[in-house]
Amino acid sequence: MEYRELGETGLMASVIGLGTWVMGGWMWGGAEDRESLGTLRRAIDMGINLIDTAPIYGHGRSEELVGKAVAESGRRESVMLATKVGLEWNMEKTSVWRNSSQPRITRELDDSLRRLRTDWIDIYQVHWPDTTVTFEETMDALLDLQRLGKIRFIGLSNFTVDQIGRCRAVGPLHVLQPPYNLFERDIENRELAYCRDHRFGTLIYGPLCRGLLSGKYRGDETFTSGDVRQLDPKFQGDRFGTYVRCVERLKELAVRHGKTVSQLAIRWCLEQPGVSVALCGARRPDQLDENAGAAGWSLSADDLEEIDRIVAETIAEPIGPQFMAPP
Ligand SMILES: NC(=O)c1ccc[n+]([C@@H]2O[C@H](COP(=O)([O-])OP(=O)(O)OC[C@H]3O[C@@H](n4cnc5c(N)ncnc54)[C@H](OP(=O)(O)O)[C@@H]3O)[C@@H](O)[C@H]2O)c1
Repeated sequence: MEYRELGETGLMASVIGLGTWVMGGWMWGGAEDRESLGTLRRAIDMGINLIDTAPIYGHGRSEELVGKAVAESGRRESVMLATKVGLEWNMEKTSVWRNSSQPRITRELDDSLRRLRTDWIDIYQVHWPDTTVTFEETMDALLDLQRLGKIRFIGLSNFTVDQIGRCRAVGPLHVLQPPYNLFERDIENRELAYCRDHRFGTLIYGPLCRGLLSGKYRGDETFTSGDVRQLDPKFQGDRFGTYVRCVERLKELAVRHGKTVSQLAIRWCLEQPGVSVALCGARRPDQLDENAGAAGWSLSADDLEEIDRIVAETIAEPIGPQFMAPP
């Protein structure tokens, strides 16, 4: 495994982090616990030392599985747990909304510690900016938890440059978790540039664009209601076919390197200045094995240029990841 310093945290993180949204089942058409636990164990065994989860992923289920796998591995000290805070849901689990108020943060932290079977969170991230409370209230609550030793580093996810700056005025921040992949490059000249300038660690999410860049789609697949891909315009109609044609062209380049297109797409993310870790979702150990093959090699400047050209020639009007934002 390849490791990089995570901004100024002093932590050395594996460049491939394991994303566990899919393991909660929710918004991914279900998930098998046995496969999820196998994937988590495999990640720890291969030296992946950063696991990302969130309370909302399966309404606690993903955190519970992560907690079980890490506890059973006996390697809590060498695994960095990154979880999130600030999304609330109703009892029926039919709706989700943002809440980063002080009482919510305090309660969520205790729930996460219990589910993760740990006394501390390594990276605690506000999941989405909540503008119904002040950033001062949110940051003060997080700084209190940090003083108590319950969280080590504070991170933000899905925040704009302006919002990051306002939080940073309250207290130190170390990590940003934004969406980023070959098809969703919105952050490149904004949040990613900011992170480079301020030496933030970045955990970029969705490097395979929810599997689109894995090369397994033909472009005529349909997704069940409640599957995140049903909400994503890139997986619909003629546009789906256009994206698949682009992936087919990228596949040819990957083959020239003896790699799969998933590995090429993840490696491309890792080559971008400012990216520390690619959070790769995997529902089974074989997906993880493939994705981990993005570590330990590099793409040349010519390769990067060719990749840019292929994407620019094929995708006339890129669509960002905005469809995922909760109310
Ligand atoms: N902060 C946020 O708001 C936010 C939002 C999204 C994600 N995240 C984090 O980032 C992580 C990664 O993002 P993601 O899970 O959305 O997207 P991703 O890594 O782009 O895609 C993961 C999905 O693609 C499929 N896949 C993965 N590897 C594959 C392979 N080698 N071959 C074929 N299919 C493969 C799997 O789903 P199928 O088997 O169903 O195809 C998997 O669940 C999440 O798990 C989560 O930890 C955070």
